[in-house]
Amino acid sequence: MHNIAIITLTADIIKMTSALSTTVQALQWTGTHLAVLDQRLLPEQLIYNNYDDAIGVTDAIATMQVRGAPAIGIAAAYGVALAVSQHYQKNKNEWQQKVKEDIALLASSRPTAVNLFWALELMTALLAQPLNDPIAATITLAEKIHSDDIAANQIMGELGADLLSGAKGLMTHCNAGALATGGYGTALGVIRSIRLRQTINIYMGETRPWLQGARLTAWELAQEGIPATLIADSAAAWLMKSGAIAWIVVGADRITARGDVANKIGTYSLAVLAKQHGVKVMVVAPTSTIDWSIENGEDIAIEQRPAHELLPDYYQQDGSLIDAWNPVFDVTPAELITAIVTERGVVMNPTVLSLQGIKNEIC
Ligand code: MRU
Repeated sequence: MHNIAIITLTADIIKMTSALSTTVQALQWTGTHLAVLDQRLLPEQLIYNNYDDAIGVTDAIATMQVRGAPAIGIAAAYGVALAVSQHYQKNKNEWQQKVKEDIALLASSRPTAVNLFWALELMTALLAQPLNDPIAATITLAEKIHSDDIAANQIMGELGADLLSGAKGLMTHCNAGALATGGYGTALGVIRSIRLRQTINIYMGETRPWLQGARLTAWELAQEGIPATLIADSAAAWLMKSGAIAWIVVGADRITARGDVANKIGTYSLAVLAKQHGVKVMVVAPTSTIDWSIENGEDIAIEQRPAHELLPDYYQQDGSLIDAWNPVFDVTPAELITAIVTERGVVMNPTVLSLQGIKNEIC
């Protein structure tokens, strides 16, 4: 059965939910530069790095100072605004070609999160129009992409919390929180919202090798006084067998038109285990994460990160016989997913047909 609950983003809902946004900010636009919270240093250090050009923003994305699909898209949008500021001020005749080159550079930063390409397409479409003040216009659009993402997260939080009603426990993977978005978070947004309604046991996997769960999700939840329990990734099957959790709640980097979901490596394992143990799987993502141009998850580019991010130092030497295979995303087929929660509504048991309802909804 395909249940689609459609809601409309009214100005009132956006106003109401924006007032609730007090979560940590991965990205801060200062008016002249982009401050990026360096997530490589969390939880020990809280340091923002400032960027005033697209080259810097590209590096911040590629090196994972900022990560998480929606946050990557927002950073890239600001990166385009910075490129326009830089090149338009320097040369009012040739700035467009330079900005085009910077957009191509930003697009090369990471391959899997479709929000990156979605945001760059929006910025490119804006720049194709005649603009009196290209600097102001691109900053305004980047800020809108940022604030729309926060509003969408807060709506998804409420919709996802409705699904969780009465559940005693859930598990999340990676970090799909304020750190990975404009604010509030997708999967962590749902967790924030359900916690305002009821108590629930929250488990998070470490998310090896980069430890988004152990370092980032744990930190975000602790900041807000939300108790949670960390598990080794390999403990997930045993946790499910114990009956402690009713739902897996995760974000996404790219969702295909039929509902296959690319997300942090290990999500597929969790979905397979969930099927075995009668646990439900909720994917929470804004519609900017849906890639309507592809149906089959096998067509999603899966990022391979360098071996050194996985290999112990001992094996990182010339002549070592030990290499590492380090795909950082996997694809969970739609049939293993119970619900996809978007800001336009919830799609149960996703298929091409049921997701179409979300696509056609005008917000
Ligand atoms: O490699 P990362 O940390 O960028 O991967 C992030 C994820 O896989 C998240 O689950 C996804 O981007 C959703 S974030 C709201």
